[in-house]
Amino acid sequence: MAIRTIIKEGDPILRKVCRPVTEFGEKLWTVLDDMADTMRSADGVGLAGPQVSFLRRVVVIDVGDEHGLYELINPEITYRSEETQHVQEGCLSCPNRWGMTTRPMRIDFKAQDRNGNWYEVKGAEGLLAQAVCHELDHLEGKLFVDIVEEWLEPEEEQAK
Ligand code: NI
Repeated sequence: MAIRTIIKEGDPILRKVCRPVTEFGEKLWTVLDDMADTMRSADGVGLAGPQVSFLRRVVVIDVGDEHGLYELINPEITYRSEETQHVQEGCLSCPNRWGMTTRPMRIDFKAQDRNGNWYEVKGAEGLLAQAVCHELDHLEGKLFVDIVEEWLEPEEEQAK
């Protein structure tokens, strides 16, 4: 595994719409392993393909729950609760910027695993729901800065 450079806000790569993954093999697995390594070394909870210049529909998430690492290939959100959460959000591509966003409280999503098998997660809540929404936005070329409702001063960032 290797740590890759995280692309920062302002780079047009982050504004591209990513293409589906069609090949499930060594090349994809290396990217996935590197993405998990890169996310963890940066102390993040999620990372999307374009953030490491890989313009395919690939996301890794680890919110520190009992599940551990999620690998989402070609993911789709299949349900969003009407109930929302007003949450603090940041992004590894936007260092030292924090703001409040509104995200669904609960979602269902489906994705393929690294071997191409589909799985579905029902009732993802809280931080996991927020992270999946945030990372899937990256695959559409969207950043959380587009939907921030209120910026936080750096000292307002809650200690994690
Ligand atoms: Ni991000």
